[in-house]
Amino acid sequence: MNAVKPRVFVTRRLPDPALAILHEHCTVTLWDQIEVPIPRAELLRGVAEAEGLLCLITDRIDRDVIAAAPSLRAVSIMAVGYDNIDRAALAARGITLTNTPDVLTETTADLAWALMLAAARRVVEGHKLIEQGGWGPWHPMQMVGQDIYGRTLGVVGAGRIGRAVLRRGQGFAMRLLYHNRRPDPRLEAELGAVYRSLDDLLSESDVVVVTAPLTEATRGMFGAAQFARMKPTSVFVNVARGPLVREDELVAALRAGRPWAAGLDVFEREPLVPDHPLLTLSNVVLTPHIGSATVATRLRMATLAAENLVAVLHGQPTPHIVPVE
Ligand code: GLV
Repeated sequence: MNAVKPRVFVTRRLPDPALAILHEHCTVTLWDQIEVPIPRAELLRGVAEAEGLLCLITDRIDRDVIAAAPSLRAVSIMAVGYDNIDRAALAARGITLTNTPDVLTETTADLAWALMLAAARRVVEGHKLIEQGGWGPWHPMQMVGQDIYGRTLGVVGAGRIGRAVLRRGQGFAMRLLYHNRRPDPRLEAELGAVYRSLDDLLSESDVVVVTAPLTEATRGMFGAAQFARMKPTSVFVNVARGPLVREDELVAALRAGRPWAAGLDVFEREPLVPDHPLLTLSNVVLTPHIGSATVATRLRMATLAAENLVAVLHGQPTPHIVPVE
C-alpha cells in the first residue's frame, strides 16, 4: 500500500467496520449523519479534494459533482443499482465505478416474496381490519385472496436477484417465466424457467415481479397498456426502481382491479409523501425501499463498498467494477 493515504469523501456515516477499513487505508472525510442525506452544496464542497467517493443511492452524482472533483479516481456506491450516477461523465474522466452486487441478492429476493405473499393474502389489510376493530364473525368469503403455490411466476429482468426470486418459486411448485433482453439458456437449464416476450409474460403470469435495472430503455416500461394485459387475479411486485413504472397509471389500474393487487418497495419519488394516491388503495402493500435492509446484509454492503474503494485507489483488483462506457 502507498505511504500517502488517498483522500476519500463518504456521504453518510456508515457502520463502524466499514469506516474502520477506510480509516486504515485512506484519509477520510465524512458527512457525519445517519439519516439525513448530504445537501447538494456540501457534496460539491466535500468532493473538491477527494480521490475517492463513497456514496449512496440518495446522492445524485452528475456532471457537476464530477467537475467539482478534479482529483477523483474512484466512486464506490453502497448499492447494486447505480442509476443515480452519470456513468458517461465518469468514463470521460477515466474514473472507476464499483457497486455491491451478490451480497444483497437473497435478502432482496426475500422481500419480493414477502410483498408477493402479503399482497396476495391481504396480510396488511387484515392487520388494519383487526387494528380498526372491524373484524366481524368468520364467514366463508371473508378476506379471500389469491393462491401463490402452484401458480405462474413471471420475472422481468432475471439477473441475480430475479433468478433468486425464481429459485424460490420452485419451492412453491410454480411455473416459471422470465423476460430479459434476450433468452438465457443457462437460466433455463438451471431453473427450468421459460422465456417469454414481455406481453406474453404479463398475460400468462399470476405474479409479475420486476427486478430489472433502471436504464433509458426500461424507464416507464410498465404503464396502462402493460397492466391491461395482466390477469384480473394477478399480483404485481416491484423491488427494482420506481421509475420503471408509470405510477399514476398503476394507481388507475389498481383502482380498476387489474392487477388485482400490488406490492411495492420502490417509487417514482422517494420518500413517498403521506398523501400519495397509492396510500388510498386497500389492494397495495408498500415498504420504504428496504429490499436489502437486514442487519447482516447492510453490514456486508457497507464493508464491501469500503473494500472496493480501497482496492481501486490502491490499484488492487476487485470483481465489482461497473462498466462505465
Ligand atoms: C438498492 O436499491 C440497491 O440498488 O442496492
